[in-house]
Amino acid sequence: MSKFLVTGGAGYIGSHTVVELLKSNHQVVVLDNLANGYESCLRRIAQITGKKPEFVLGDVRDAEKVARILRDKRIDSVIHFAGLKAVSESVNKPLEYYDVNVHGTLALCKAMKKARVKRLIFSSSATIYGVEAPVPYLESMPRGKTSNPYGESKAVVERFLTDLSHSDPDWSVSLLRYFNPIGAHPSGFIGEAPKGIPNNLLPFITQVAIGQREVLSVFGNDYKTEDGTCERDYLHVMDLAEGHRLIAEQCGPKPGVHIYNLGTGKPVSVLKMIEHFEKVNKVSVPFRIEDRRDGDLDAFWADVSKIEHELNWHAERGLDDMLKDAWRWQLQNPDGYSC
Ligand code: NAD
Ligand code: UFG
Repeated sequence: MSKFLVTGGAGYIGSHTVVELLKSNHQVVVLDNLANGYESCLRRIAQITGKKPEFVLGDVRDAEKVARILRDKRIDSVIHFAGLKAVSESVNKPLEYYDVNVHGTLALCKAMKKARVKRLIFSSSATIYGVEAPVPYLESMPRGKTSNPYGESKAVVERFLTDLSHSDPDWSVSLLRYFNPIGAHPSGFIGEAPKGIPNNLLPFITQVAIGQREVLSVFGNDYKTEDGTCERDYLHVMDLAEGHRLIAEQCGPKPGVHIYNLGTGKPVSVLKMIEHFEKVNKVSVPFRIEDRRDGDLDAFWADVSKIEHELNWHAERGLDDMLKDAWRWQLQNPDGYSC
C-alpha cells in the first residue's frame, strides 16, 4: 500500500484515478487549485468508494506548500495531473501554459527533492510525437515537432524529467502518453465536466444530444482517412485510471524512466463516433460539416505492444462502454458538478 499525492485529482482523469487507487486500498491526498476541477467531485468519489480522499486546496507552483504536504502527510509517490490542457487556448495564452505546465512541474520536482520523495508519474500526451511522426506511434520514436504551446510544454517536461532521472538514479519517473480519454465512471457519479464551451469531441456530442447545444461542428471531411474525417484512438477513462494504478505499483519501485503509450491501438473517425453514439444510446446528434480546425492531424493512434508485453495491460472496455458511460454521466448530471 502506498500513499499518493494526486495533483489535479479533482479534475477529469485525476478523479477516476483516485477512485481506482482508493479501491485498491492505497491512500490518497488530492492537491488541486480548482481552476478546472470541482470540490464536490471528491464527495462523489466518496459515494463510489466509501472513502473520502484528503483534499488540499493549493497550487502546484507553490513549492514550499507542496514540500510541506509531502513531508507532513508522509507521501511516497506523486501522480501529477495538474495542468492546463486546451490546445487552442494555449496558442493565445502561451505564458500561462508554460507557467502552469512547465514551471508547475519544476516546482513540484523541487518540492519532491526537498522532501526526498522520488516516485513520479507524469500525464504526458500523444501530441509529443509531433506533426510529422508516422502512425502508429511507438514509444521508441523521438519526440517530434509540436505545433502549439500545450504540446511543447509536455515535451519540455518529458525532457527535464528524463534529465532529472539521469542526474539521480534513485528517481522513478513514468511518462504516460495518453491518446484520447473519454467516458465516465459507470456509476454516473463522476465524469468530464468542462467549464465553458467544450474543446473535445465527446463532451460536445453529449451536450448536443441532451439539447444544451444545437449542433455539433465536424471539423473537416477532406482528411486522408476512409470517410474524410479525422481518426483518433479513444480509450475509456477507467482503463486509463487502471493503467495509472498498475504503473504506480509496478514501475514506482523501479528507478529509471518508464515510458508508455496508453490507448487502444484502434483509430475511429469523427463520423463513426457520432454514428456509434446515436446507435448505442438511441439518441440523435445533429451535426454539420465545417472547415478544418487549425492544427488537427489526419489520424493518429497508439502502438500498445510495449505496455501489453511489459505490464500485461490492455484497454478492456470498448467503444460501446465509452459512449454509454459518457451519456449516462451527461443524463444524470446535465449541469456537471453544479447540480
Ligand atoms: P482537467 O482539467 O479535468 O484536470 C486538471 C486538474 O488540474 C483540474 O482539476 C485543475 O483544477 C487542476 N489544476 C490546473 N492547474 C493547477 C495548478 N496550477 N495547481 C493545482 N491544480 C491545478 O484535465 P484532465 O483531462 O483530467 O487532464 C489531466 C492531465 O492529463 C493534464 O495534465 C492534461 O494535459 C493531460 N492530458 C489530458 C488529455 C485529455 O484528453 N483529457 C490528453 C492527454 C494528456
Ligand atoms: N472535433 C470535431 N468537433 C468538435 C470537437 C472535435 O469535429 O466539436 C474533432 C477534431 O477535429 C478531431 C477529433 O474530433 O478530429 C478529436 O478532437 P479532440 O479535441 O477531442 O481531441 P484531439 O485529438 O484534438 O486532442 C486530444 C487532447 C489533447 C491531446 C491529444 C492527444 O485534447 O490534449 O488528444 O492525446 F494532446
